[in-house]
Amino acid sequence: MNAATFTPKNIIVTGGCGFIGSNFVHHVVREHPEVHVTVLDKLTYAGNPENIAGLPEDRVELVVGDICDADLLDRIVPGHDAIVHYAAESHNDNSIADPRPFLRTNVEGTFQLLEAARRHGVRYHHVSTDEVYGDLALDDPARFTEDTPYHPSSPYSSTKAASDQLVRAWHRTYGVAATISNCSNNYGPYQHVEKFIPRQITNILMGRRPKLYGDGRNVRDWIHTEDHSSAVWEILTRGRLGETYLIGADGERSNIDVLRAILERMGRSSDDFDWVRDRPGHDRRYAIDATKLRRELGWEPAHTDFAAGLDATIAWYREHEEWWRPVKEATEAKYAEQGQ
Ligand code: NAD
Ligand code: DAU
Repeated sequence: MNAATFTPKNIIVTGGCGFIGSNFVHHVVREHPEVHVTVLDKLTYAGNPENIAGLPEDRVELVVGDICDADLLDRIVPGHDAIVHYAAESHNDNSIADPRPFLRTNVEGTFQLLEAARRHGVRYHHVSTDEVYGDLALDDPARFTEDTPYHPSSPYSSTKAASDQLVRAWHRTYGVAATISNCSNNYGPYQHVEKFIPRQITNILMGRRPKLYGDGRNVRDWIHTEDHSSAVWEILTRGRLGETYLIGADGERSNIDVLRAILERMGRSSDDFDWVRDRPGHDRRYAIDATKLRRELGWEPAHTDFAAGLDATIAWYREHEEWWRPVKEATEAKYAEQGQ
């Protein structure tokens, strides 16, 4: 089925100073020279303006502010033709320790953006996660599709599930021109050191031992963040309004396999890590079936060589110590308190 093409010229990217949002901003600047980007970001612990530093000033503007601030949204949304919504509290472990900011930013923030999209008649793309579907057993041949029932496990994923449902309601009831994407685990440059892959790489770079939760057999479906960006662009510009598209690149791997690959590529022995306390409610396995996105929009991932992607990511952290060093100790102190 062919969807009409939408040609945005002036977009707002919320959370554009975070990991995936900033990679999307780089992608748009590089691939779509006709588009201007306004980044709206509160610069929480996870947002870093360095992530978009050096991009041309006539193409990218940073507005520091909160997506929950309706007055601010009324000032900046007019004149734009789309909101691409990445901003979130994104880390499961943090949501277990303190769920409150997740409810505010992920639920209230999405509500405010939808209301602003409605008031100002702009298109809205909602970036979400495969975690809304809960988890699969290790031996289950099934993968998530757009028809899988919602069954979130953590405070984080339940707030993302709530925000997805708000988008559907605002589309159906008020006619907000919206699309949704649910992606699997991203990796690549600019990912906060609280997340699995950067945490292990930076531990090794500091001469510390990586930390593996539980039995290490949990499976995540890894996709390079650049492939996530290209998929979001296709959905924003050619996706059907009111539709959901799953994004994944057939990258299922157990945590212990990923950790051993990192250890091996960084010259350490495969058992040079610590087993630590498991995450409460830890989802066992995620797996995405991206057939709809591939068939309907013709999207294909470009970064399917995981070993090469891991090497590039390791090299990025090696070369950008000044980027991660200032937040490493505070991150590890938080983990130490949690026994992780
Ligand atoms: P991140 O934590 O790295 O970045 C979040 C960004 O949002 C930060 O720049 C932060 O300052 C900003 N932010 C937080 N609260 C805000 C608020 N109230 N107002 C304005 N800005 C605020 O997150 P990420 O890993 O880049 O994830 C981005 C989005 O992608 C999230 O919606 C997440 O649910 C989704 N997602 C992430 C993954 C993944 O693997 N990381 C996979 C699928 C979907
Ligand atoms: O699936 C998409 C989701 O992927 C996104 O919605 C989330 O925003 C993103 O954070 C990510 O969630 P996970 O919980 O899967 O990612 P995380 O990097 O926290 O952990 C990946 C796996 O590694 C998970 O099974 C827990 C495990 N883990 C994590 C850390 C930080 C460890 O074994 N050791 C660790 O030190």
